[in-house]
Amino acid sequence: MFSSHGPSVRELAVQGLSSVERGYDLLAPKFDHTPFRTPDRMLDAVEETLARQREGGFGSGLDVCCGTGAGIGMLRRLCRDRVTGVDLSAGMLAEAGRAHAGDDRVDFVRADARALPAGLAGRYDLAVSFGAFGHFLPAERPALFSGVHAALREGGVFAFPIGAPIPVSSPVWWAVAAFDAVMRVRNAVWWPPFVMYYRTFPLGGVRADLRAAGFTVETVPLERFGRLPGGAPRWRLVLARRS
Ligand SMILES: C[S@@+](CC[C@H](N)C(=O)[O-])C[C@H]1O[C@@H](n2cnc3c(N)ncnc32)[C@H](O)[C@@H]1O
Repeated sequence: MFSSHGPSVRELAVQGLSSVERGYDLLAPKFDHTPFRTPDRMLDAVEETLARQREGGFGSGLDVCCGTGAGIGMLRRLCRDRVTGVDLSAGMLAEAGRAHAGDDRVDFVRADARALPAGLAGRYDLAVSFGAFGHFLPAERPALFSGVHAALREGGVFAFPIGAPIPVSSPVWWAVAAFDAVMRVRNAVWWPPFVMYYRTFPLGGVRADLRAAGFTVETVPLERFGRLPGGAPRWRLVLARRS
């Protein structure tokens, strides 16, 4: 699962017993060698789909929960102006900052995505987020989505990939259900909590919360990932527009 440059089992255990912020601070130097970093294949599929959405590109871009900066290169290519990465973890931001040192179009802000700074309001035309929604409880989605909505200009787009529900007949369903159950037990008996669940971000609930935050919502299939036997896309790109 991890390359020889990735974290050891002991390091992962210590990280998992920390808070989300501290856990990522510890993981940061090795994060890019883990499967938790969004793979280039997904980034490329999203970039290709977004490039088709707006001829002439976007103005400014925001990567919400940017981590070590997986989405920053894509935003630089899709956007003409400023690109900002926001993350809770100073360690992850330090890695992202190193990767983009000297790039005067890119800046990083340390902030909780559930309470984005007022200084970001109305400054972006495109916001993206990858691989981070498992860190938010369903009750936290309204604050997360309203903050992104406020950060966008009129007509701005909040885009993120979402996978099809995993059928209960699949071994993967049982693996993620077991992971979530272990995390619930861990969070019931250990402080500080490490919120990370795989099954708390269903498209139906997400769509309703995006609409409640003021977005209009559509989804576009990411055809590179193929379709399920019933015909539904394995992955879609959610496009939530501030209108
Ligand atoms: C799995 S990593 C994904 C990083 C990157 N987007 C990627 O795809 O490689 C999740 C990131 O979410 C950040 N994060 C978790 N909760 C957050 C919050 N409440 N506010 C801001 N960032 C948060 C973590 O610090 C971490 O960098």
